[in-house]
Amino acid sequence: MSEEYKKGKGMIRGIPHDTIEQSLPILAVFVAILVAVGGIVEIVPAFYLDDSEPAVEGVRPLTPLELEGFAIYRREGCFLCHSQMIRPFRDEKERYGHFSLAVESGYDHNFVWGSKRTGPDVARLGEKYTDAWHVQHMRKPRSVVPESVMPNYVWLEETVLDTSRTAKRMQVLKSMNVPYSNDDIANFAVDIKAQAAVDDGDGEDDLRARYERKAWGSVNEGDDTIVTWTDSFEPTELNVRAFDGDASDVTELDALIAYLQQLGTHVHFEEGVDYYHDKFGQPYRK
Ligand code: HEC
Repeated sequence: MSEEYKKGKGMIRGIPHDTIEQSLPILAVFVAILVAVGGIVEIVPAFYLDDSEPAVEGVRPLTPLELEGFAIYRREGCFLCHSQMIRPFRDEKERYGHFSLAVESGYDHNFVWGSKRTGPDVARLGEKYTDAWHVQHMRKPRSVVPESVMPNYVWLEETVLDTSRTAKRMQVLKSMNVPYSNDDIANFAVDIKAQAAVDDGDGEDDLRARYERKAWGSVNEGDDTIVTWTDSFEPTELNVRAFDGDASDVTELDALIAYLQQLGTHVHFEEGVDYYHDKFGQPYRK
């Protein structure tokens, strides 16, 4: 044992450091204590929060067409190169806009926050570009951004959207508390056509009525956790148009662009409002 230990230095409550490092059981006990402290620090605050994911006005679940677009986004692995999570740092805010709120991805199962940015974050992509730009970019990214390393997704505009699993998807999400009503699920096919403008326009009003003001819990009537938006709140309008520029059929590209064009557009961020403290839970705190 070194002279320093003998003098009482390098000791933890009388146990020399060497002893801890050289004995597996003692080391394991100390590691377990350390990990437990870390765990408690992470977990305990969650028990004191009224609501870990407070509602913010404007956030609505995806329409059936956007939901299919979301499925294509995951199928094609877009999340491997694109994040959907703007962190609360100045550089991120200046480049992408307001940092992401937890509630904004509250309806996403599974979530696509991503962990790598080969391409830019897309959490606030909605309405940044025109549909025509997206069509061209998906066909051949290098035709609009010459240095791009993004793959071409040429098959999306040639493939008619498969809607055989849409109702099932909505049912599963409903079982996870996404507020789709039975009416929404029964009408998914007309809603998809209406949003992609592959009808004579008669389905648009129903589609808007079903989804534009769909707040958390709004279909669970009789349940006291109902939250609704204030009457004066003007939600972001649903995008209803031929997203791929062709109104003759609903393609996978229609669904994907419908999904991309609404990303991050739901909450009306106000300058000077602190969405972590002032705004959380309001105006419908339980
Ligand atoms: C191999 C990585 C990679 C994959 C996979 C990928 N992208 Fe990209 N993406 C990029 C890069 C790099 C850029 C930046 C250059 C450009 O605009 O093409 C980009 C840009 C974009 C942009 C423009 C964003 C902006 O704000 O300018 C959109 C939209 C986009 N990608 C959508 C998608 C979608 C949808 C998919 C899946 C179908 C996808 N990307 C898959 C790498 C990727």
